[in-house]
Amino acid sequence: MKKSLAAFAGIALVALSGQAFSSEATDIGKKIYDRAFGRGCGTCHDIASNPQLPELIKAGTLDRAKFEQVLRDGKGGMPKALDEIMKNAAVKKAGLTEELAIDDLYEYLKTK
Ligand code: HEC
Repeated sequence: MKKSLAAFAGIALVALSGQAFSSEATDIGKKIYDRAFGRGCGTCHDIASNPQLPELIKAGTLDRAKFEQVLRDGKGGMPKALDEIMKNAAVKKAGLTEELAIDDLYEYLKTK
């Protein structure tokens, strides 16, 4: 029940925003978020003292370009993450480029 509601909300969101991102894309984004570095980005980012990515994205202070730059280069306590992202099984299975994998992760964070 919970799952079907979430799927419905996802569809409604895509329809409302008029964007081409599918639930498959946000699914892959979730897998990256949950599995990168073995325990996921949330190991650090679900802790209140670290940057709250969904809030920053929704507030417009973390745009797609900055997001990508931090994943590529790291920042302070934030490790470089692009290699980890590209190793993700779902990313490999879908044959995504770096750009598309980052897109999926960014889109997932918008829905989180
Ligand atoms: C080892 C802990 C850790 C892990 C794992 C981690 N992060 Fe971070 N991340 C941080 C810390 C700490 C910062 C703040 C760095 C700073 O501003 O100096 C940060 C900052 C960021 C920023 C920049 C936010 C901003 O507005 O400046 C982004 C984007 C980000 N992380 C994305 C991710 C993603 C996506 C993942 C998973 C692929 C991830 N992080 C995994 C600790 C982590």
